[in-house]
Amino acid sequence: MIDKKSKKNLFIKTYGCQMNSYDSDRINESLEDTHTLVNEVNQADLIILNTCHIREKAAEKLYSDLGRIVKSKDKVKSPSIVVAGCVAQAEGKEIQKRQPKVDIVIGPQMYHLIPNLIDKLEKKKTKKIIEIEFPEENKFDKLKNPRTKVLPSSFVSVQEGCDKFCSFCVVPFTRGSEYSRSVNDVYEEILSLSNKGAKEVILLGQNVNAYHGLFKDKTTASLSDLILQISKIQKIKRISYTTSHPNEMSDELIMMHGTNKKLNSYLHLPVQSGSDKVLKKMNRKYTVSEYIKIIEKLRKVKPGIALSSDFIVGFPGETEEDFKKTINLVRLIGFTQAYSFTYSPRPGTGAASLENQIPVSIKKERLQRLQDILNDQQWKFNLSFENKEIEILLTRKGKKDGQLIGSSLWMQSVHIENSESRLDLEIGKIIKVRIISAGPKSLRGKFIRVIN
Ligand code: SAH
Ligand code: SF4
Ligand code: F3S
Repeated sequence: MIDKKSKKNLFIKTYGCQMNSYDSDRINESLEDTHTLVNEVNQADLIILNTCHIREKAAEKLYSDLGRIVKSKDKVKSPSIVVAGCVAQAEGKEIQKRQPKVDIVIGPQMYHLIPNLIDKLEKKKTKKIIEIEFPEENKFDKLKNPRTKVLPSSFVSVQEGCDKFCSFCVVPFTRGSEYSRSVNDVYEEILSLSNKGAKEVILLGQNVNAYHGLFKDKTTASLSDLILQISKIQKIKRISYTTSHPNEMSDELIMMHGTNKKLNSYLHLPVQSGSDKVLKKMNRKYTVSEYIKIIEKLRKVKPGIALSSDFIVGFPGETEEDFKKTINLVRLIGFTQAYSFTYSPRPGTGAASLENQIPVSIKKERLQRLQDILNDQQWKFNLSFENKEIEILLTRKGKKDGQLIGSSLWMQSVHIENSESRLDLEIGKIIKVRIISAGPKSLRGKFIRVIN
């Protein structure tokens, strides 16, 4: 162990999804013996950019960020630069061609190598490094450092990669094929997080409900088996999982929403489009009516469950008629929050070379119409909470003095003013609040009592 003074400074910027955020924490933890995390890029000896490749702008953003960093690189500290994540995987050596000052390019399945590579780099034993294999051994078996980045609501990746190959998506190429961690590995990690203060755990995977990890006796566990095991951890009070694919929503998992008291009243289930024709071209392998059936079953076992989704508008060949079918589906189901995007062609994916690409102006106009409805639904859902008493988990401080922000069981953000500066009101507590007002994206609550 190096003493604090001789440690180097590490800056990490994370783009993209929650799995990247989890990975950044694990990378940080694996470097904790030698590096201290800093918030300012210009104080860093080592800069790690953990990138996302899901839409066009993310990669452009990386190159412009790199440009800015490199401009100052010669002047001040001359930090080492690592590009990790999905752009690293997809672009490989192209990154060092476009920006020769990048020292290491490393894909999402190779993070366990980072401490060693940094060591070599800093001892000047090596120059440019590219690591973008999908190795036989799994990074989770190698990343054995104790978890130290513990939050009241902590992410834990349980599954990685995707074998679905939706025609618009880069994930199968950047994250590789599906892999699930063992039940015991996940359980031990969550047990340790819970002993360090985590009360909620959000199980992550690009296809989390396709989870098929092994029990100790080598039989296969489904996601609902895994949830059942985790819910036995006494200090874990709430469980969520994301992102799910409709085709993996088994009856067993749906039932779990009705029977497992620790499972939040929330599900993010991306539908992408309300037109069967578009869904087929997207290679989603379900129909609109199949999606609706899943929602009906869920609502039967868990009335009032909050439903969230992802949408892509302006997929190649999407007509006004198709788009209206998406609107109809949204109206029929009623989502409590959602992520919606205009289609952006990704190199190497099937849909990028399809004819009938939709002009940007139409894509934008459709997105606006869709978002108007989705925002309206979200606000109405929030309004239905006014004057209700609910439990929230305090997860972070707000911007205002004394303000705390928590999350509800329906995954809404709830702001409370701790005007009495009560010492027992701190991050990590589960409290009861009365909702005094509801905004488009969040609620305001008044403290009633501490529950846990
Ligand atoms: N595994 C998840 C989604 C992961 S990507 C699922 O199957 O639903 C997150 C979201 O980004 C997707 O749901 C999709 O809505 C959006 N997305 C992915 N590729 C895109 C593209 N090429 N253009 C626009 N949006 C895209
Ligand atoms: Fe991408 Fe489809 Fe896999 Fe989701 S299921 S990660 S959208 S290929
Ligand atoms: Fe982006 Fe890779 Fe996640 S492309 S959304 S960082 S899996």
